[in-house]
Formats: sequence, structure tokens, C-alpha cells
Amino acid sequence: MRILIAEDDFTSRTMLTAVLEKGGHEIVEARDGNDAWEAIQQPDAPGLVILDWMMPEMDGLEVVRRVRQMPTERRHYIIMLTHKGDRADIVAGLEAGADDYLTKPFDAGELRARVKVGRRMVEMQDRLSKFANKMQTLAEERARQLVHADRLATLGVLAAGIAHEINNPVAFVAGNAQTIERVWDTVATQLQNTGDDEEIAFILEEVPKMLAGIRKGVDRISKIVRGLKSYVRQEKMGTAPFHLDDAIETALELCRNSLKYNVTVEKNYPNILPEVLGDYRKMEQVLVNLLTNAADAMSEQKQGTLSIDTCVDKDFVRVTITDNGPGMTPEVLDRMFDPFYTTKTEGKGTGLGLSISKGIIEQHGGTLEARNTPEGGAELSFTLPVASCASPVTKEDASP
Ligand SMILES: Nc1ncnc2c1ncn2[C@@H]1O[C@H](COP(=O)(O)OP(=O)(O)OP(=O)(O)O)[C@@H](O)[C@H]1O
Ligand SMILES: [Mg+2]
Repeated sequence: MRILIAEDDFTSRTMLTAVLEKGGHEIVEARDGNDAWEAIQQPDAPGLVILDWMMPEMDGLEVVRRVRQMPTERRHYIIMLTHKGDRADIVAGLEAGADDYLTKPFDAGELRARVKVGRRMVEMQDRLSKFANKMQTLAEERARQLVHADRLATLGVLAAGIAHEINNPVAFVAGNAQTIERVWDTVATQLQNTGDDEEIAFILEEVPKMLAGIRKGVDRISKIVRGLKSYVRQEKMGTAPFHLDDAIETALELCRNSLKYNVTVEKNYPNILPEVLGDYRKMEQVLVNLLTNAADAMSEQKQGTLSIDTCVDKDFVRVTITDNGPGMTPEVLDRMFDPFYTTKTEGKGTGLGLSISKGIIEQHGGTLEARNTPEGGAELSFTLPVASCASPVTKEDASP
């Protein structure tokens, strides 16, 4: 271990160093009180200090006092060095905060024994402070999770309310737009017959575009409302054993359009993948979300590569979808699973895909995680319990 020896007397310092170096310790030397104080303040200062009591510049007592006033969490173990018979010094030293003492001329055996005790104390102290730091980190992390959970719960209640409120007016708009679309051809023919008016020509041209715009808007609002409902309600899942390879194939088929121009799909599946237990349609939904995100991320890419890897990881099947798009910034990594978080242009993303997917995977007893690959792309990976390890299935609620 590293030990600081603060001793102004050359002979005594050399002897102390020799004995302790022989015992395998690494020694840092200080020749007076100032030197010692400087060395102790270094971030990598030795944890054990042997401190002579009578030193020029600053005596041992003052050094101990200063060390004990240091705001650092680290505690130095201090053995003071006094002359035999200096009882008053020993008492003052211990009261000021020294941990132990050794009298001069010192005995090598006693020095080794006292250093051994000191070493035990320093190591214990280090272990304790590491443990305390770990506990502190855990507590902070837990607090952060709780705040996050609370935020999501509030958002969930709000979302449910909004979805409910929006549903009816959207239905009116959609219904009325449909009626107008239905009668528009008749109206248009009659208008055409009224003459060659500029204003009528404008109406005839613009109304169909407006109706298309209304339909597009209504579809988008309905998609958001559906997404909100499935996020909040956490709909009941069907449970049946199925092969994930099949769900991946269907999802790829559904995403064929967005992948076909610039993306090469690589599949790495092991020969035998055990069945997983869950809702086939929901898993398709998750896979479509992940594949769509990957396709969006690679849309600027001349040549994109999408890899789908499956493997068995203990009692779980793991699916990893990797793309060679730009990957995620730290902010995106931190927030991408939050509902409504999107970096896509207005009208393109609702920001619900990943939060819904995460909910579905977790309801299945699995996990969904994201990280950047060393090459800079994104890697989304989820696990699902192998059917034989998950809770038994009842035929009645089995799907697909
Ligand atoms: N493969 C990926 N590469 C880079 N960023 C990604 C990737 N997948 C997700 N993201 C980031 O996470 C955000 C949230 O994704 P999420 O699927 O929840 O919403 P969205 O795709 O924006 O909208 P929605 O899925 O509702 O249409 C995205 O906007 C994007 O910034
Ligand atoms: Mg998405």
C-alpha cells in the first residue's frame, strides 16, 4: 500500500522507508510539516500517514488538525511518531485526531504491526465509501425513475382524457366530410351547368383538394387517438406460443414499401428458435414500429443495411434490429421511449411507436432497449420469454 512518511530527521526517515519498502509498501516522503500537508492534499494522496510530531515549518499537531478539517470524504489513517515518554504529546495527538502512535526510537516489528492495523482500517474505509457511493447512486437513480414514472402516469391520465374528448368531434368531422364527398359529384355537375364563372371554376378545383386534406387530417387524428388508447389502456393480450421468425417475416412484408429502394435486409437466425408465448398481432405491431423507425433513420442513406439477429439468451429469445443510420444523440437515447417524443417532422411521427412497443414487450415479461452501435447506427433489442419458461397458456384466450 502507499504510505506517506513525514519526518525531518534523515536517519529516522531512511530507516522507516527501508523497513516499510521491504514489506512491499510504496513510500512517499515529506521532509517537513509543509511538505506533508501539501502531499496530503493531493487527490492521489496515500491513505496511511506516518507523521513525526516535532517538525520544522508546521508541527505534526497542526498537520493533524488541518487534515481532520478537510472536507473530503476520504479519511487518512494517521500514525504519529513521538519520543518515548512524551505522554502529553500522545494525548494531544490522539485528541486532535491521530489514530495511533509509535515511539522513537521505533521497533521494526511494532512499526510493521501498527502499519498492518492501519492498512486494514484504510481498506475497510475504502470499501465502506465505495459501498456508500454505490448506495447513493442507486438512490439517485431510483428517485429519477420515480419522477419519470410519475410524469408518465400523469401523462397517461391526461392522454386518456384527451383521447376520449377528441373521439366524438373527430367522428362528426369524418362523417360530415364523407357525406359531402358523397354528394360532391352531383353538386359539381350542377355548378358546372350554371355557367363559366371564375369563382365556380375555383370552387370546383379546390373543394376536392380540401376534402382530401380533411380526410388526411382525420386519419392522422384517429391514428393518434388509437395510439393513445392502446398506450393508456394496455389492451388485453392474447397468449399463444408462436415462432418469432413468422412475426418478423410478416412485419417485413408490411414494411416492404419503405425498405425496398435503398435497404438491404440481412437476417441472422439460428436454425432452431424456440417458440415464445404472447400476442402475435401485438408483436407484429412492435416489429413494424422498429422496422419503420430503422427505415426512417436510413432514408437519407444511399445504401442502408438492416440486420435482424435472433438468438436464445438463457430463458429468453432476443431479437436485435440494427441499422446503419445516424444513431441516437444522448438526448434522444434518454427520451425516445417517452410518449410523444419524436424528432421527426410535423405530420410524420407521433412519437408513440416506441412507448407503445416498450409497454407491449414489458407486458410480455421482456425488455426493450436501445443503444448506438460502435459504427454509429442504432441497435434496438428486445427479449421475450421462451414459451416453455413462461406461464402456461389457456386455449380460450389464445391467439392468433
Ligand atoms: N433506429 C433509429 N435510429 C435513430 N433514431 C431513432 C431510431 N428509432 C427511434 N429513433 C428516435 O426515437 C424517436 C421516437 O421513436 P418513436 O417510434 O417512439 O416515434 P416516431 O417514430 O417519431 O413516431 P411514430 O412511431 O409514432 O410514428 C424518433 O423520433 C427518433 O428520433
Ligand atoms: Mg416510430
